[in-house]
Amino acid sequence: MFSRLARQPLIISIVKNAFSTSAKTDTKVAVLGASGGIGQPLSLLLKESPLVSQLALYDIAHTPGVAADLSHIETKAKVTGYLGPDQLKECVSGAQLVLIPAGVPRKPGMTRDDLFNTNASIVRDLSDACAQYCPKAIMGIVTNPVNSTVPIVSEVFKKRGVYDPKRIFGVTTLDVVRANTFIAEAKGLDVSKINVPVIGGHAGATIIPIISQCTPPVSFPEEERDRMIKRIQNAGTEVVEAKAGAGSATLSMAYAAAQFGFSVLEALGGVEGKVECAYIYSDETKVKYFATPILLGREGVEKNLGMGKLLGYEVDLLKAALPELQESIQKGEDFVLKG
Ligand code: NAD
Ligand code: LMR
Repeated sequence: MFSRLARQPLIISIVKNAFSTSAKTDTKVAVLGASGGIGQPLSLLLKESPLVSQLALYDIAHTPGVAADLSHIETKAKVTGYLGPDQLKECVSGAQLVLIPAGVPRKPGMTRDDLFNTNASIVRDLSDACAQYCPKAIMGIVTNPVNSTVPIVSEVFKKRGVYDPKRIFGVTTLDVVRANTFIAEAKGLDVSKINVPVIGGHAGATIIPIISQCTPPVSFPEEERDRMIKRIQNAGTEVVEAKAGAGSATLSMAYAAAQFGFSVLEALGGVEGKVECAYIYSDETKVKYFATPILLGREGVEKNLGMGKLLGYEVDLLKAALPELQESIQKGEDFVLKG
């Protein structure tokens, strides 16, 4: 049931996926932070898709060049670049889907929460424009710390009186992509046929892979299983360290955000059965925002499919995650409410 691009070489897979659906194709997608390490390859993947008819690229730098470059690609999407706050309104007006990867990435030794001071105001200001000029758009928030930036967007939309929890998503797809990749490798399975739900949030211990619900079923000796969980939880840091100061995951994140975006667009267009794990407003646990598999529909969240039955060690992982999630959510809410 999960949407997967990984079955074939990436570009072919995306194009096939898009052509094979009956999704409506007059769709405007805005990428905010489009000139960045994620923004550029994400925009390329979106430009390739027949699901997108208008691609609006916003950044505070380099968007004229990025847009000119992409606009020469012989695909349907009309690409326009917008530079600086004066052009933000025009960029997002009429968008059905807004993806936000604007903001600074980690360097070695930093946590995602260390990005809060810089990224919180970026996300607040961008989402305030969205609340005013495209309040019905589906919002896909990539900017870290996702555990806090999603509550920020929600509070901004509430302040503007246009909040709809079904439309605001923290993009946690990369955690699922990684879990699928690592477990398929470890078990010698076909990576195109594996699905591992990842619930919770998107930072360290809040990333909770539910290996017991893997399709097809897999099992590991306890120590190996715990190592696998740790690797999935630390995978972002693995990339940050390998990049040695040059940023965090960009290409795999662009792939993941494209997968999320295509599922949303297909669901908006009436394709049924699109499921993605995502961090949303949720009553699954005692914290307000929580990632679980979500059935997508014409209005965003069609149904929260929930976390399902967890094994004892997974319940322990959940218990360990909740205090950190609560703190990050509160921090995001306070940032908007207390200024
Ligand atoms: P980057 O520095 O390469 O790109 C960020 C872009 O944002 C730049 O082009 C910059 O000009 C732009 N920007 C900065 N302020 C802006 C503003 N006010 N309005 C519009 N654009 C603005 O960073 P990156 O590697 O692309 O990462 C972006 C964010 O995504 C980081 O916060 C990173 O931690 C996060 N991230 C999240 C996930 C996830 O799984 N959700 C994965 C990887 C990275
Ligand atoms: C990731 O998981 O790769 C991102 O959240 C970026 C990071 O800082 O690890």
